[in-house]
Amino acid sequence: MQSVRTALNRSTRGFSTSATRAYAQQQAQTSSYVPNKNPDGTYNVTLIPGDGIGPEISQAVKEIYDAAKVPIKWEEVSVAPILVDGVSTIPADAIHSIKKNTIALKGPLATPIGKGHVSLNLTLRRTFNLYANVRPCVSIDGFKTAYDNVDTVLIRENTEGEYSGIEHEVVPGVVQSIKLITHQASTRVARYAFEYARSQNRLHVTAVHKAPIMKQSDGMFLRACREMAAEYPDVKYDEDLLDRVCLRIVQDPAPYADRVMVMPNLYGDILSDMCAGLIGGLGLTPSGNIGKDASIFEAVHGSAPDIAGQGRANPTALLLSSMMMLRHMKLDSFADRIHKAALQTIAEGTRTGDLGGKASTQQYTQAIIDKL
Ligand code: NAI
Repeated sequence: MQSVRTALNRSTRGFSTSATRAYAQQQAQTSSYVPNKNPDGTYNVTLIPGDGIGPEISQAVKEIYDAAKVPIKWEEVSVAPILVDGVSTIPADAIHSIKKNTIALKGPLATPIGKGHVSLNLTLRRTFNLYANVRPCVSIDGFKTAYDNVDTVLIRENTEGEYSGIEHEVVPGVVQSIKLITHQASTRVARYAFEYARSQNRLHVTAVHKAPIMKQSDGMFLRACREMAAEYPDVKYDEDLLDRVCLRIVQDPAPYADRVMVMPNLYGDILSDMCAGLIGGLGLTPSGNIGKDASIFEAVHGSAPDIAGQGRANPTALLLSSMMMLRHMKLDSFADRIHKAALQTIAEGTRTGDLGGKASTQQYTQAIIDKL
């Protein structure tokens, strides 16, 4: 047992210094977001169709955008990993396209389970400093679920925490996974949460945490949130425990409609799926990964290999993610029009199988186009 403890201590010390430095350096690289408008008034946007149902739902979005005459030129790229010096990485073309356009719409990417597979989602988040993941969950009018009044916004720290990918076997039978929290990344996501609260007039920020257990890591996250709260006196600030928030939201989501929740990486991943369940599932839940170098919008769901290639996928989550993207680009009028057509289509009963309907992806897409 003594040897296990010694090894744990030694390995923890080594990782915490080098990994923290790497993160700090990576996160120091920042630049302001400026959308690139072409002389003809269009915008170039990188499109990553992704794996599984990704190409089907991306095709649906493209058809709806064509019909709505959205001034966007898609630059389609593959992020299928390539090997460079024995390490799998994203092709340079894809990186270049996102860097140039600063905006991307992304389909889901499958991460094979097992040793040696890096998550390309994590790689993208780190490559482009996508520090805040915004996940709104709003009840869809006309689609009955347990609650009609869900309207939550969750902002998840997106670059570190439990998803730092720092795991190793200390001795056979003992593995260690490091939750890395830096003051810098916590401050950055906290600032974004307060700015978002102001911009959306949801003047209440709740930091969600487990600081009584993770005293140092979540403690630091809370400290950053409190420091930020002092800079935003017009925004109400409070804190709540993750488990208590889960319980309260499933009992009554209404009190969460006036606020923005901000939290470390893993908590945000789990809590947002729970909120997605309250509005009807993953097929309806969009998200935006906001960074200083670029922003990438994507559905919360994965590649759904169980229904891939069958023409049954629900493209709504990717479509709603693209609405977030249009609003981010200040193309609100196109977003409003497509949003209205999609919600009307669902309310009138043209739905894909995941929402209890019989429509194929193509039939659902056409029904939206017919309402534009
Ligand atoms: P999943 O979200 O792909 O699927 C969960 C369930 O929801 C499945 O039954 C699926 O058929 C259904 N579903 C999901 N999206 C749907 C849609 N648009 N329309 C209709 N039904 C839908 O989660 P799972 O199976 O755990 O993950 C599959 C793969 O996706 C894994 O390799 C995982 O790593 C990856 N993944 C990628 C994400 C991303 O790129 N952001 C996020 C989550 C998972």
